[in-house]
Amino acid sequence: MMNIAVIGSGYVGLVTGVCFAECGHKVICVDKDEQKINRLKNGIIPIYEPGLDQLVLSNQEQGRLSFCNDIGPAVEKSDVIFIAVGTPPKPTGEADLSYIEDVSRQVAKAMNGYKVVVEKSTVPVKTGEWVKRTIRFNNKFGGDFDVASNPEFLREGSAIGDFLKPDRIVVGVESQKAAELLQGCYQPIIDQRVSFDISSGKVIHQDPQDRHVPFIVTNVSSSELIKHASNSFLALKISYINAVANFCELAGADVEQVAKGMGLDSRIGTKFLNAGVGYGGSCFPKDVSAFLEISRELGYDFKLLEDIIEVNQKQREIFVRKIKNALWIIKDKSIGILGLSFKPNTDDMREAPSIDVIKALQLEGAKIKAYDPVAMDNAKQIFGDTITYCNDPYEVAQDSDALVLMTEWDEFKNLDLKKVFDTLHYPIFLDGRNVFNPAEMKSIGFEYHSIGR
Ligand code: UGA
Repeated sequence: MMNIAVIGSGYVGLVTGVCFAECGHKVICVDKDEQKINRLKNGIIPIYEPGLDQLVLSNQEQGRLSFCNDIGPAVEKSDVIFIAVGTPPKPTGEADLSYIEDVSRQVAKAMNGYKVVVEKSTVPVKTGEWVKRTIRFNNKFGGDFDVASNPEFLREGSAIGDFLKPDRIVVGVESQKAAELLQGCYQPIIDQRVSFDISSGKVIHQDPQDRHVPFIVTNVSSSELIKHASNSFLALKISYINAVANFCELAGADVEQVAKGMGLDSRIGTKFLNAGVGYGGSCFPKDVSAFLEISRELGYDFKLLEDIIEVNQKQREIFVRKIKNALWIIKDKSIGILGLSFKPNTDDMREAPSIDVIKALQLEGAKIKAYDPVAMDNAKQIFGDTITYCNDPYEVAQDSDALVLMTEWDEFKNLDLKKVFDTLHYPIFLDGRNVFNPAEMKSIGFEYHSIGR
């Protein structure tokens, strides 16, 4: 059992803290937002993440998980301190590291013995050196400490499963001692003694398994880079297949077939080759830009990263053009939107393609109706009363001149398409995520448009 502090109880911090507690460690989650901490103490979870609420409650009840506002006591009681505060993008695209600096300073002041301070937030390469310097300058205790990097590879909507059953665990360290302490934190996961059953949404505790999760130890810079390089590579795959999709439309090919044929080559892989309106979220857009900025700073012109961003942005514009081509005049047309979040199983609207698409249509005078299974409250913060919020997909379809699918929620995959067809004003369906089969849609009577098919 290890004593762990996690500073920052946002998405990453909360999932990290709760999963470590479930592994049997004693965890204190810290956040400067008093209201958030009070709510967490009462079992109210600020984000939508399947399975998280139950784990917060059970670990609190069993005394392994606690919440507080003060960094000081949490640091004093812990051997390993994970920093999981936000690193939002600045207007220039580079990451704003002021929260990391602030926390490093406070951690340093509270140190009462050897600690490993771990960057969990996604940070540009070289941040570890700055954290170390900041702690050294502010460390009244004057004792020994280590700074390490341990990037997260959590996807929103399946974060608990990703934490407990990762493809790999990466730690960047400068000493054997830090590596051993971090291995101690992750040992139950490395041995797969704790894992997550996605179908039941429950954590399973079992005997150590034969198949161990790879635990990769690197230097700090390499570990920091692994995160930016991984996210940018995944974004590259998406932009690549979207560019291929655009080509397919000109060449009369089908991107789904092309992606399958490519992906079955194990060197390429089938994942992240789904063409659509492009990627969004709080990670890919921010991380590709931050990677580009740090490359520039270090003197490397990473042109490829610019292309990833450009293809992704254009993909939204191309989709808006498709809607216009289907409707001719947009002004005063009633357009129904299915799905607002940047992907399914999350209420996160950050950088969601739906935002750009809806705003572009509104600019042309469209009347927008929309429905999302969980992101409506967050969408209201963005669109206010400029759009009509519906209670279900059929209400969206009712009398609309076109139906536009932006997020591939399961609820939409199982729609009664005949009913949708009957309620639409014009039978136009634009599918931004290639959810439906073009031949089936045609046989129902829809004029169906998708991406790269
Ligand atoms: C992403 C990474 O997948 C995680 O490994 C990483 O830890 C996380 O960022 C992070 O840095 O914290 P996330 O942003 O939750 O996770 O979402 P993804 O499931 O990766 O999807 C990102 C976007 O790409 C979504 O908008 C999705 O619709 C889009 N996408 C994904 C596609 O357009 N096509 C695909 O084939 C796959």
